[in-house]
Amino acid sequence: MAYTVPQLTDYSPAALEKAADESIAACQTESANVRSDADLKSFRDRWMARKNGILTQINDLWLKGAPKDAKREAGMRVNQLKARITELVESAHIAGGVDLLASERVDISLPGIRRPIGAEHPIIKTMHEIVGVFQRLGYSVAEGPVVETDYYNFEALNFPPNHPARDTQDTLFIAGQQSKPARERLLLRTHTSPVQIRTMEKMRPPIRIVIPGTVHRNDPPDASHSPMFHQIEGLAVDTNITFGDLKGTLDHAMKALFGSSVKTHFRPSFFPFTEPSAELYVTCFICGGSGKRDGNAPCRPCKQTGWIEVLGCGMVDPNVFEFVKDNGYDPKKVSGFAFGMGVDRLALLKYGVDDLQYFFQGDVRFLQQFG
Ligand code: DAH
Repeated sequence: MAYTVPQLTDYSPAALEKAADESIAACQTESANVRSDADLKSFRDRWMARKNGILTQINDLWLKGAPKDAKREAGMRVNQLKARITELVESAHIAGGVDLLASERVDISLPGIRRPIGAEHPIIKTMHEIVGVFQRLGYSVAEGPVVETDYYNFEALNFPPNHPARDTQDTLFIAGQQSKPARERLLLRTHTSPVQIRTMEKMRPPIRIVIPGTVHRNDPPDASHSPMFHQIEGLAVDTNITFGDLKGTLDHAMKALFGSSVKTHFRPSFFPFTEPSAELYVTCFICGGSGKRDGNAPCRPCKQTGWIEVLGCGMVDPNVFEFVKDNGYDPKKVSGFAFGMGVDRLALLKYGVDDLQYFFQGDVRFLQQFG
């Protein structure tokens, strides 16, 4: 007859000991009958299963059922019994000198399988570095959609209706939009500047934001062009922001990024959404501004000029504020500066990579070098 857990009426030490001995004897007998993996499994389940195994039943019947004054004694005995039965069950896999678990044994001294750990892509890493410089100046990070409307990408940024950037030569439009009014037509954003408007619609001044993201233009891929690339936009709006703030902020940022010895230089330029506008140059961080490399070789990255163009910038055009005037951006009361830079070219120069396409081909041998 298979062993079943008896109900106890007598909780004296002697009665508890007898019940425990019977249980151990039953467990020993059953353990000796284990011959196969299947036997081992059912033996183990019968005694150890959490739900209705013998140990659980003993716990319920003998311990929980014990009268108050016998609880302590019963607790001790049941614990001893559990330890002993666990021991028996654990050693039951040795059946007639053969170890039934031998095939399941794991050699923990074998080295594991090494899984290569991923690393930040060099462009993303450069983006994080640039964003970090501005975050430390108190800027927050904003993002916006890559599929944008004509309104945010062009109209609200003061692009005149026939501006060449709206041309299909440059902008990748989403197909089948002809039935929509021009400003609602979807396109792949050609710059991160639309997020300036999107952010100003949501947040009242003062604001200081940087906007990292991907942008698209219809440029065939080559060593220095890609139809998809990355920009970081910046925008600061407050009362009394001046061109001096723009220069000071960007000069600091360039020194933080390229080293404290770089010099900055602003040249007049044009962007529809800034007035005045400028291009910012830094002294070439490859040749130190001399235009020459070791042994008098010409410095290619700066084309021997000693200067590298890093971004476009300017004071936010009042016409742009007109589009978000209702959210506190009255051009008579607030002013601001904006800037936008291409990340890919900076990463290219920084890491001395000679073909932009390497960044996007996903070749592990290339990417590993940045791990
Ligand atoms: N959006 C411009 C571009 O893609 C870059 C730029 C220039 C952004 C001047 C700005 C700015 O915010 O003020 O060429």
